[in-house]
Amino acid sequence: MTHSLLCLAGDGIGPEVMAATKDVVAAVSDVFSIDFDVEDDLVGGASYDVHGIPVTDTVIEKARNASAVLFGAVGGPQYDDVDYAKRPEQGLLDLRKQLDLFANLRPAICFGPLASASSLKTDLIEGLDILIVRELTSGVYFGEPRGISRDADGKRVGVNTQRYTEDEIARTARVAFELARTRAGRVMSVEKGNVMESGKLWRQVVTEIHADENYGDVDLQHMYADNCAMQLVRAPKQFDVIVTDNLFGDMLSDQASMLTGSIGMLPSASLGQPDAHGCNPALYEPVHGSAPDIAGKGLANPCACILSFAMALQYSLGEQAAARAIFAAVDKVLADGVRTADIAGDTDTPVSTADMARAIITKIRA
Ligand code: IPM
Ligand code: MG
Repeated sequence: MTHSLLCLAGDGIGPEVMAATKDVVAAVSDVFSIDFDVEDDLVGGASYDVHGIPVTDTVIEKARNASAVLFGAVGGPQYDDVDYAKRPEQGLLDLRKQLDLFANLRPAICFGPLASASSLKTDLIEGLDILIVRELTSGVYFGEPRGISRDADGKRVGVNTQRYTEDEIARTARVAFELARTRAGRVMSVEKGNVMESGKLWRQVVTEIHADENYGDVDLQHMYADNCAMQLVRAPKQFDVIVTDNLFGDMLSDQASMLTGSIGMLPSASLGQPDAHGCNPALYEPVHGSAPDIAGKGLANPCACILSFAMALQYSLGEQAAARAIFAAVDKVLADGVRTADIAGDTDTPVSTADMARAIITKIRA
């Protein structure tokens, strides 16, 4: 069986980390005798430059039909004045929305050798393993009405709408409960029900799904989002799975990722729901952005993109052994002291993007 991979490298450091990841794909294919059909296409600013839009319908169709989409990063200062509808970020938002990739899985794992790179005390984050499940296709990112208009006095008013249906909350909660069962079995549901009706509904629905759909074996607790932000830096190891909405998930996942010492290490998965034909769209991307300041210099850390490929093996392709091998290879390379600039300590000599990938491939082949 051949797995089709659609690689959307995008902008900034996207193409570099994607090139490194494709070398890992080739090595995994060799070592584990897995066939991949790898295709490249444009997204973000790279697509805007050629097509005038950040993602074309053709690419969305290809993404829908691929076994998995590997995504690099989008955005850059040269697009700052482009309309929202055509900005690079919109390419990613369109893919999420059109493929209905509602469940965004963002692990914050601390690799042992990097524990001292965290801005928190080592003992607070050593062994950290949090999974944030972020709702990805609704909430304030997509709610209507939205826009900037004028009020009766001619003053400008900016409007966005936080809106959740119970079905949107329910399906996200189910993903969180199912994943908790494969981990420590605890879910923290996060909202602002003290000030927002959407948050009140969030808590009600998560509680109902937990009770009505026999998730009694999973420990469910609730927390307000501001408290969660505080607890993440106070005692992050109290969390196992955090389930939350689109905007809180965006912020809390950046915060959680930095606890681990480097946002350059962290992968993510965005999962849809299987359709009637058994198609199950999924997109895998590093949590970091396009980092235009270091683009094209061979400085970027490819680990997040490589680990995103590992998540694709794990969640879309059913290739658990290969996925584990990549995670183990990254851990070993870090233990050997190989570091890209973002994770290098004062006494380390940083390696390039390509060298980091080569070191990981050597461990996979060993
Ligand atoms: C993320 C990013 C995106 C988001 C941007 C690039 C649209 O910050 O994936 O976290 O806000 O969702
Ligand atoms: Mg973000």
